[in-house]
Amino acid sequence: MGNWLDVASTDELAPGMRRVVDADGLAVAVFNLGGEYFAIQDICPHDGGELAKGVLEGEVIVCPRHGARFSVKSGSVLGPPAYEDIRTFSVRVVDGRVQVEAG
Ligand code: FES
Repeated sequence: MGNWLDVASTDELAPGMRRVVDADGLAVAVFNLGGEYFAIQDICPHDGGELAKGVLEGEVIVCPRHGARFSVKSGSVLGPPAYEDIRTFSVRVVDGRVQVEAG
């Protein structure tokens, strides 16, 4: 059984929006992509950029520091200068609340 952390109501996290939560000291960014929810670590493996502050292009988040690109859906790295994938987290909706699996 995972440890599910409350993120927001589904109204607060509308399509195109994102929110960062602290999961036991780890920043996790939760995105609503067209009604589906995805969560990734909010730390760029290149040099610690806060990914949730980057520009979203479809399902791709662009790191605001040096432009590395990652899939929000899979965590795969898609463009340099980062070369490592990022961690993803499960997301669920319970009674209108978006929750992320934190541990
Ligand atoms: S910190 Fe993200 S690309 Fe450099």
